[in-house]
Amino acid sequence: MSSQECFVVRPGKALRGITTVPGDKSISHRAVLFGAIANGQTEVRSWLAAGDTEASLSVIQALGIKVERHDKHTLTIHGGKLQESGEPLNFVNAGTGIRLFAGIMAGQLFPSVLDGSGQLRRRPMKRIIDPLVEMGAIIESEDKYAPMHISPTELKGIRYEMPMASAQVKSAVLLAGLFAEGETSVVELGPARDHTERMLSAMGVDITVDDNVVTVQPTDTLTPLDITVPGDFSSAAFLIVAGLIIPDSELTITHVNLNPTRTGLLDVLLEMGADITVNETGEQAGEPVGDITVKYSELTGVEVGGNIVVRMIDEFPILMVASLYAQGETVVRDAQELRVKETDRLAVMTAELRKLGADITETDDGFRITGKQKLMGAIVDGHDDHRVAMSMTVAGLIADEQTVVVDSKCAGDSFPGFMETIERLGGQLIKDDSTTYPV
Ligand code: S3P
Repeated sequence: MSSQECFVVRPGKALRGITTVPGDKSISHRAVLFGAIANGQTEVRSWLAAGDTEASLSVIQALGIKVERHDKHTLTIHGGKLQESGEPLNFVNAGTGIRLFAGIMAGQLFPSVLDGSGQLRRRPMKRIIDPLVEMGAIIESEDKYAPMHISPTELKGIRYEMPMASAQVKSAVLLAGLFAEGETSVVELGPARDHTERMLSAMGVDITVDDNVVTVQPTDTLTPLDITVPGDFSSAAFLIVAGLIIPDSELTITHVNLNPTRTGLLDVLLEMGADITVNETGEQAGEPVGDITVKYSELTGVEVGGNIVVRMIDEFPILMVASLYAQGETVVRDAQELRVKETDRLAVMTAELRKLGADITETDDGFRITGKQKLMGAIVDGHDDHRVAMSMTVAGLIADEQTVVVDSKCAGDSFPGFMETIERLGGQLIKDDSTTYPV
């Protein structure tokens, strides 16, 4: 039994209109973490004020960095020298926060302890501990999970061949490289999101990309940025898929980040026959931005695997929902990284969609779904995983009868106002924290 906040979802209404989505989570984390070590004042507008990013903001404040909060989304960060905190640094559920910051803390002249929630303590840190230790870092942990105890030492640059495609690992190594002796290179396995490279370059860092090798030179001068964070494509993805599968829908999402390392889902949906128009309008924070319009479409199944997977790694839960409504079979391969996200998203999404009657074959590295299925509303669990809770909500908007998504508060980890946005577009969704639903 659970009494956490629930979304009660009723089907049958088209989603129509124009909306924005909150600021990009990856860029919002980086804005505060990099702002903290910049030489001077970083200005950030349209910052994502959400569970995960607030955790990163609290951490830099715990390290003595002064932050002026003009409103929820507008910050001035007075960057400079970090100071030792007497307390463990608590990243709550934020994998991006803890992994990127481990790279920065490995290069400081004082010790630190990096920690988080029970959920974060179950996520693998070996992937960052191994390369950082190769650079000379001293990191103690139990079985390479948080908490990580980092001791001061000198780092040396390395050339690191990544064993998996991951922007968090790439970024942790590059950030440690700023404090190392000699250059640091990362050889990528796939084109993981490149926000770190774009931001560090804009901050005056000597960082070069040659094919799949990113090389950074050490520096102690980081020019502070003045940025407006674009809308998060990964949040827009829920609205995009909802618009495509709910009959009569037509909606536009404006000011969305269109960085090609993030928009793999668009390519896949277009291949599925989706009616999507993208209008690139300019650049914001060194990233291409624009408006995305989607109309209800008859989708067909698709095969997804290889290099595109990392370009849409956060979008597989919602692609699963889309696949249930496509004609024919969708097959996803090479997506084993989904098993080490906030939850094992392959297992959890399969289990929760099955509660709605879905027929899904879960494989080691993906899934197979034959579409044109009919789902029936049920009580499902968000598992304290924002992308699971929002994907199940979208599934509920199209299933017959009522769906209750228990433990849906976590939607606010990346998309505060998710429920209100769906409602404004015409969906029927209410918040209920008064009832206890069995899951
Ligand atoms: C992120 C990288 C991805 C992604 C996460 C955000 C980032 O994780 O899933 O939501 O901001 O660097 P991995 O690096 O583990 O693939």
